[in-house]
Amino acid sequence: MFVLSLFLTISDACFSLLLHQKWYYQPPPLSNLMAPQQGITKVTTNTLQKMKLEGEKIAMLTSYDYSLAKLVDMAGIDVILVGDSASNVMAGHETTVPITLDQMIYHATSVVKAAQRSLIVVDLPFGSYQGDSKEALNSSVRIMKESGAHSVKLEGGSEVIDSVKRILTAGIPVMGHLGLTPQSIYKFGTYTVRAREEKEAQKLLEDARLLEEAGCFSIVLEKIPTELATKVTEQINIPTIGIGAGPNVDGQVLVLHDLLGITMDFNPRFIRRYLDLHKDIDKAIKSYIKDVRGGNFPSDAESY
Ligand code: KIV
Repeated sequence: MFVLSLFLTISDACFSLLLHQKWYYQPPPLSNLMAPQQGITKVTTNTLQKMKLEGEKIAMLTSYDYSLAKLVDMAGIDVILVGDSASNVMAGHETTVPITLDQMIYHATSVVKAAQRSLIVVDLPFGSYQGDSKEALNSSVRIMKESGAHSVKLEGGSEVIDSVKRILTAGIPVMGHLGLTPQSIYKFGTYTVRAREEKEAQKLLEDARLLEEAGCFSIVLEKIPTELATKVTEQINIPTIGIGAGPNVDGQVLVLHDLLGITMDFNPRFIRRYLDLHKDIDKAIKSYIKDVRGGNFPSDAESY
């Protein structure tokens, strides 16, 4: 009896100590969505909706890694897309088809760590959502839980509407993507402008309405005529984000590596290169090689 009461007293004391010291439980940090840094107002899907209503343009860019995402976020971008263009830009594949869900989650996790302000959208990769809405939900849940991102994007209209609806039932915001949908490149056969013909334009308009009705918070319109993008933007109430869709959409998106001029061989007319970074990088690396080979690096000041 004595031993039992001694044991209870000691364990009670230990528990109080742990409780007081909070050794037993460290509350998890609030998600960056719930705990904005001082002076930083986070962009949410509601912000984008408000921007459309107020006629304020939305700026979106891709990012795939921590270091560049940090610069993009600090510069004040509204939306960061962890695009499956990582398949081309980061992995060197010819199309977006090969990238996997695990690889997308890896990129998204790095971007989430960097961004304090931007809304982060992650592409559901090819094969992770088409044809099976349960798989679409599972893939989206993995992205949200494992990376901490805020939303997902998927390509297509009526063909994927069941997947869109099922993902939305879990409270996961969904961005649509119509027009040129690179995951279907083998069906289209080319990367030329989409929906020039009346029939395809009509389907795109109907798909945009379907995605809006289902509850998508925004739609990317890729490489379609300006006139059609304008019509879609006027007829739906959620923001449209264009890439090669002209100026009359609610926002624009570009691949970061195209904007910075890191990529060289991809030159469609919708890209505006704000830098020719590949030239600076080439110059810097050549100077480094020269210095190493000439014994000029490191100097005494750069040595211990
Ligand atoms: O993956 C991507 O970069 C995209 C944009 C081109 C919209 O989907």
